[in-house]
Amino acid sequence: MAVKTCLMIGASGMAGGWIQRMTERLGDRIQIVGLVDVNEEVLAAQGAKLGLGADQLFADYKEACAKVQADFCGIATPPQFHSPQAIAALEAGMPVICEKPIADTLAAAKAMAAKAEETGLPCAIIQNYRYAPNKQEVVRIREEGRLGRLQHIFGRYACDYRQYMSWGKEWRHDMDFSLLFEGSVHHFDMMRFLAGGDCEVLQGFGWNPAWSSFKHYSSGFYLLRMDNGVHTAYEGNSSAAGITSCWHREYYRLEFEEGTVEIGAGDEVRIYRVGQEVEVYSAPTMEWTGHDYLFKEFVDWLEGGKASATRIEDNLQSFALVIAAMETTEDGQPKRIADYL
Ligand SMILES: NC(=O)c1ccc[n+]([C@@H]2O[C@H](COP(=O)([O-])OP(=O)(O)OC[C@H]3O[C@@H](n4cnc5c(N)ncnc54)[C@H](O)[C@@H]3O)[C@@H](O)[C@H]2O)c1
Repeated sequence: MAVKTCLMIGASGMAGGWIQRMTERLGDRIQIVGLVDVNEEVLAAQGAKLGLGADQLFADYKEACAKVQADFCGIATPPQFHSPQAIAALEAGMPVICEKPIADTLAAAKAMAAKAEETGLPCAIIQNYRYAPNKQEVVRIREEGRLGRLQHIFGRYACDYRQYMSWGKEWRHDMDFSLLFEGSVHHFDMMRFLAGGDCEVLQGFGWNPAWSSFKHYSSGFYLLRMDNGVHTAYEGNSSAAGITSCWHREYYRLEFEEGTVEIGAGDEVRIYRVGQEVEVYSAPTMEWTGHDYLFKEFVDWLEGGKASATRIEDNLQSFALVIAAMETTEDGQPKRIADYL
């Protein structure tokens, strides 16, 4: 396995986590040979840590894409930059792995997907929450029919972000629909993953409680009917004050023909069957989880392995749910997802 070189766009925040993971866990597979960030201090500090020279550090992604010949490009900047940066990288011949959400608008997401298709280059989107032991176990329970057929799923995300800037930088509190773009895109993707189907129709509501630290809606309820007959209900709340189900601890309850499965924090799986003791066990551990799994899957793909499950063609389905949720919040009407794709 040859080491794959990477042009990394973004150097702090989530991008800082990427750099740490790529160098620590995947140092034998990935080498960062170029770094881009608009923040000069961050760029200099990360560049020094990585041992990069001045000619490998850039404030402008277009210049970086023109000058750095890497095996792939990683993008972990705020959402509105993903599509132009990915398109520049793909045009320069570099496959792309990019943070969620795909983009800030449906048109930008489609332009990015179209460029990936036109160039024929791999383009994967991060959906790290799929690669957790408890989520993988739930999917095995469904696929193996251990509890018969699945009828519906309830999912709950609730974080206490009542303090301004408790959820990263200002932009996440100031933007429109940050619950949907920054939060629910993970949970809608999870509903597709757990249900084993794509969404046909989505409907729901969003609101902003008076005590919210967000300029726009922090909370919402959304219903999704999937194309395999599974129904899902989602509660999203970035103004939670009591029972939290925050990142990595989101609550999912799946109602099967022969029992109920519950997962939340940790690897514990609980199975309830009427009239029986609750079955509680730890989901089998995984060697690779979250971002590490996705980075490994992506470099395997570059070496001729299986395409990433969350490649852009597939992940557009999850992103379309964000756009549909935004629109149903605005007009109260059910949305057919096929109309967005
Ligand atoms: N998968 C996850 O669990 C997860 C968690 C948090 C954030 N994210 C995603 O990561 C992305 C980045 O979020 P964040 O909180 O790290 O943002 P951030 O504001 O901290 O920015 C990340 C970095 O990008 C740099 N940057 C901003 N604009 C740039 C540009 N035009 N060109 C180059 N660099 C630029 C910033 O200076 C910063 O160093 C978002 O898409 C977010 O949704 C994912």
